[in-house]
Amino acid sequence: MCGIVGAIGERNVTDVLIEGLRRLEYRGYDSAGLAVVDQGAVVRERQPGKVQALADAAHAADVHGRLGIAHTRWATHGAPTQCNAHPHMSGDIAVVHNGIIENYESLRERLQGEGYVFTSQTDTEVVAHLIQSELKQGGDYFQAVRRAVAQLHGAFALGIVRACEPDRLLAVRQGSPLVVGLGIGENFISSDQLALLPVTNRFIYLEEGDFIELARNRVSIWNAAGEPVRRPAVELDATLHASSKGGYKHYMLKEIYEQPAAVQRTLNGRISDGRVAVDAFGPQAAELLAKARHIQILACGTSYHAGYVAKYWFEAIAGVSCHVEVASEFRYRTTVLPADTLIVTISQSGETADTLAALREVKARALGALCICNVPTSTLVRESDLAFITHAGPEIGVASTKAFTTQLVALMLLVLATGRRQGTLSAERERDIVQQLGTLPALLDGVLALDKDIERIAEEFGEKHHTLFLGRGAQYPVAMEGALKLKEISYIHAEAYPAGELKHGPLALVDNDMPVVAVAPKNDLIDKLKSNLQEVRARAGVLYVFADHAADVRPEAGIKVFPMPSVADEVAPIVYTVPLQLLSYHVAVIKGTDVDQPRNLAKSVTVE
Ligand code: G6P
Repeated sequence: MCGIVGAIGERNVTDVLIEGLRRLEYRGYDSAGLAVVDQGAVVRERQPGKVQALADAAHAADVHGRLGIAHTRWATHGAPTQCNAHPHMSGDIAVVHNGIIENYESLRERLQGEGYVFTSQTDTEVVAHLIQSELKQGGDYFQAVRRAVAQLHGAFALGIVRACEPDRLLAVRQGSPLVVGLGIGENFISSDQLALLPVTNRFIYLEEGDFIELARNRVSIWNAAGEPVRRPAVELDATLHASSKGGYKHYMLKEIYEQPAAVQRTLNGRISDGRVAVDAFGPQAAELLAKARHIQILACGTSYHAGYVAKYWFEAIAGVSCHVEVASEFRYRTTVLPADTLIVTISQSGETADTLAALREVKARALGALCICNVPTSTLVRESDLAFITHAGPEIGVASTKAFTTQLVALMLLVLATGRRQGTLSAERERDIVQQLGTLPALLDGVLALDKDIERIAEEFGEKHHTLFLGRGAQYPVAMEGALKLKEISYIHAEAYPAGELKHGPLALVDNDMPVVAVAPKNDLIDKLKSNLQEVRARAGVLYVFADHAADVRPEAGIKVFPMPSVADEVAPIVYTVPLQLLSYHVAVIKGTDVDQPRNLAKSVTVE
């Protein structure tokens, strides 16, 4: 999704801006641009396509200056063209923007009436003209920007520079992420701290409504009420954020292979004496978990699938009713919450706009809000009563892998802690499941050893247009996640079905051109699932089945079986996720797609 980088310093900031944009590339974008203030003028470069194209253009034109803003754009209003790329300008003002200005059409009409000429289809361009229009009303630059921002509706983060103001960078955070990075004699802004790690590890996390003025040696912040405020600076352990491909061809493959270690990190410090540590979810957790009569899970994308698995676990293991819903639906419908509902949000980034909005909408009506998140400094963590950090490490591939499996581990710990507090789970069963969680790193290593076999069969998917994924029980959301992975990165249409629903429609699609992937561990439903697989085989569908020995699925013509390790039912969804990740990865490589940055998608969706 769109990214912002801004810098003011004693040195030429062009390279800082470009390196920052490179570090935001993983989030997804389709054009890039920058503007620097140089000798009383704003110099701008914009390019559709990759940051490298912008870097080449900026270096060819020798763009330099000591104050600048830069942007990667993920098109919402208007195609990914040079005209629509940020920064947008009005006279001597240049603006970069993340988020959406909801009232841009009425503002645009009004500004056109005042004689302003628009050169893009974006909502952002109104911001530049509006500031210019306010400047013409008199008063100083700072006040003009404040008056302009007060007229904007929607969720946004802005970075603003002006040709005749070489000593200040103005910025606003209102509903879209923005952090300040603190240097020595230089300061920065970015929509993601990862962008600034080459230049600083000291950050100020802003609040909604904050207005910021950066000078080289000073950062001034005003809150939503216009009062000057001080926000604490936080020092990050930069080594935690080291991100390179480490010899792998893609970040996604590296992150798939990191799962045994990532899962171990999620468990570390959370287990005590063979049970979930009492304070694993924070000091207030005991009371909230004991009181919760209902769990409402809210999330988007892959995180939603993690929540869907947890729904099965909450009801089967902790005996607590649980609903799960995509946040973008939940936030806009009239909802009735059962008494004493605990809200559980799940998000890798902690910045997903719909998840945050759903939390804000429901929080006051709920018993409390707990989040499972990978980014301790994120907005979601700050706005939740309780937070559990997954410690998956930075995830760069847009298609989520290790974030998902660590979310599942976190959710299982939460289910166990809830069952214990509610008195519905025996100490013996808790110990048993905790022990199974402890075997996960070794089990996942075992599954990764299937990589070469999976790579070989991936060829058979390369020419296909559709694929069906089947599972039952808690393996159904695993099938959903498998289908999502395949469509995200290989662009093959993939759908997941609970296998029992096959004959209510999707069976009509099955023929010898439709690969059907099934996750089939030995469990109470295996015989039912095997009957469903026979229904597929009887229609000449080609089956790819991931099954353990005890499931006793026999390979034969049209049925390929991948031998999975035997694994206890409770943790099987975590183990069966991994071969589906590998399958989608290898199919995407064969198809030659952009695995880490698939078209049209973003890593962190900070607009609705
Ligand atoms: C985007 C990403 C997905 C992710 C989803 C939710 O769609 O491409 O990988 O699952 O957002 O993100 P979150 O950070 O809230 O887990």
